Amino acid sequence: MQGRHAGVIIAVVLFSSGYLFVHLLGEVSRLYNDTSKLERVVAKLQLDNIEIAHRHLSAASYQDNTAQNDDDLILIYNRVPKTGSTSFAGIAYDLCKKNKYNVIHINITKNGHTLSLPDQVRFIANISEWTEKKPALYHGHLAYVEFSRFGLDKNPLYINIIRDPLDRLVSYYYFVRYGDDFRPSVRRRKAGNTETFDDCVAKDGSDCDPENLWLQIPFFCGHSAECWTPGNRWALEQAKFHLVNKYLLVGITEELGDFIAVLEATLPRFFHGAVELYNFGRKSHLRKTSNKVQPKPETLEKIQESQVWKLENEFYEFAVEQFHFIKHQTFDLTNGAYVEKGNRFHYEKIRPR
Ligand SMILES: *[C@@H]1O[C@H](CO)[C@@H](O)[C@H](O)[C@H]1NC(C)=O
Ligand SMILES: *[C@@H]1O[C@H](CO)[C@@H](O)[C@H](O)[C@H]1NC(C)=O
Repeated sequence: MQGRHAGVIIAVVLFSSGYLFVHLLGEVSRLYNDTSKLERVVAKLQLDNIEIAHRHLSAASYQDNTAQNDDDLILIYNRVPKTGSTSFAGIAYDLCKKNKYNVIHINITKNGHTLSLPDQVRFIANISEWTEKKPALYHGHLAYVEFSRFGLDKNPLYINIIRDPLDRLVSYYYFVRYGDDFRPSVRRRKAGNTETFDDCVAKDGSDCDPENLWLQIPFFCGHSAECWTPGNRWALEQAKFHLVNKYLLVGITEELGDFIAVLEATLPRFFHGAVELYNFGRKSHLRKTSNKVQPKPETLEKIQESQVWKLENEFYEFAVEQFHFIKHQTFDLTNGAYVEKGNRFHYEKIRPR
């Protein structure tokens, strides 16, 4: 009896677990089907969202396009070495995504500052025709290129920053020996040389030769032979002429924040948000050359006797005067804030009615 009972129980248990198993299998497969259906729905929703986001984006850029006609603008910042240019380029890179423009570095082989005539033609043709990259800011250690010489009716906008020429030279002198706080681990060209600028000037060394001051004038003068003759007065006049006629704005290193503020007021398409970034961001600190020693007064006097210093300094003072003039026309600088003087023109007597 016992045996038969056990048999029946086993059969019942086997049967019901078999039934349960089949039933569970069915449930699992139904759930699985539901899940993949759900996944398809979620995926579809995501696609829809992306599409909506895209539509928003293109609507936004469409509005930008219609609001401003400067979407094919090209800015050229032909930066002079050791003028605080890395800090400013950093701001342009930080803003380019948000403000929707491109920033492109022009790397000139072997740190040359001029291009051959065919290279100038290639450069000009390339940046004028490269529509996918417009609007764009090109920057590099390149002397002024006169676009109108090449038969183009649309010139780019030039901007630049210059610095007290003697400060720039001293900064450069120590930079090639000790580097700076931007890339402290890079071994510089004259690493290991510990001669101070004073010692160098006292023994008429070549690294501190006043001819080395001849850089800001040729950068603004451009690609003519005499631009590169140290102490050439024609080059100075040409540089001044370009500064006022060919450059939208030239700032000075000593007032970099003010330069950025005038630029933001003038070209918000590129520089909206630049002042805030400069004042509160990490980019506000200039690269600081390490181990720089302030030269002695007799050292400065000796350099200031040279014709090259006199012309470079005249150019610098000309740039300072020009920048101050523009700055004070743009802003009321009372209590330290930039208050734009605003629209000082309006139209009237528009005829015929
Ligand atoms: C310019 O290009 C050369 C060769 O590719 C490279 O070695 C150099 O680091 C570049 N210069 C800068 C400033 O990036
Ligand atoms: C400009 O030069 C870049 C780099 O060589 C190239 O990729 C681009 O296609 C050029 N654009 C035009 C319009 O020639």
